[in-house]
Amino acid sequence: MQDISPEATEFWERLSRIRCDDSINKKCLKPETWDKAAATYDDLEKCKDYQSQVTEIINILQQKTALDKENVVADVACGTGTYAVRMAPFCKKVACIDISRGMLAKLEEKCRRFSLSNIEIVNEDWQGFVPEEDFDLVFCSMTPLLRDSANIRKIVASSRRFIGIVTWAGVRRNRLLAELSRQILGKEMNQKGQDITITFNYLYSLGFAPSLTFFTGCWEKIRPAEKQAENLIWRLEMKRPLTEAEKKEVRTKVASLADEKGLVKVVSTVRTCFMLVDKRQSKDAINCP
Ligand SMILES: C[S@@+](CC[C@H](N)C(=O)[O-])C[C@H]1O[C@@H](n2cnc3c(N)ncnc32)[C@H](O)[C@@H]1O
Repeated sequence: MQDISPEATEFWERLSRIRCDDSINKKCLKPETWDKAAATYDDLEKCKDYQSQVTEIINILQQKTALDKENVVADVACGTGTYAVRMAPFCKKVACIDISRGMLAKLEEKCRRFSLSNIEIVNEDWQGFVPEEDFDLVFCSMTPLLRDSANIRKIVASSRRFIGIVTWAGVRRNRLLAELSRQILGKEMNQKGQDITITFNYLYSLGFAPSLTFFTGCWEKIRPAEKQAENLIWRLEMKRPLTEAEKKEVRTKVASLADEKGLVKVVSTVRTCFMLVDKRQSKDAINCP
């Protein structure tokens, strides 16, 4: 890396390749990983700090005209469609692309519940997906896809004008997960691979000046002890499969934290960032009259 300057796109491409090359990342790109998480994924939507992040991002997209009645939007790795269902009322169409059938089944349910007819659901891998049209806004939030600069390049290429990206920004602490991973895996899980650093710098090296909005918060998920334990086992198994004895250890620890109703609250301290690129303000588009 010493032979390339950090201003060069290649610097960030190389760094992203190094960061992508770990077992957690490979597992996070598999549909079965997310199929398992789908049932409880939307529990986060009940959390106030998360709700205000989502609301503010939709507001910014509207103010900047990235959401407009004439606009066609892509939500890459849309998951259960937390953002897509909130964008759909303000644009012509949202194409929702995700590799996990389980996550998309939740989105289908929401489309029926909210009578949304302008959401197109595409069960495909973004890496192989061939867009049939260009989008006015390509939006992508909190996905392992963002670790790989090749996926970001495809996001940039598929957008006529706006690119919206939400990702972690240096803070992601879950005390219970940290304690369990020290206890069971022998060390804390490294969750830093998918961060704003490479994504921002890669876009910047391409000549864009993303506007940044940071969110800090406590993301609380309150679930019955068994569901909470299954979720923590899912997180720990990103690293390696757990033995039955280790799973029992997790279940016992989580059960010991349950309140009188059998519920357990798990809190993550987080900082996230929303990056918005308007291609009209890129280095190459700026001209003095
Ligand atoms: C943490 S969820 C984020 C969902 C949603 N964007 C949100 O912010 O709530 C990550 C999503 O990335 C999706 N994903 C992972 N690899 C993918 C790929 N190669 N192509 C498309 N989607 C992918 C998963 O299926 C999952 O739904």
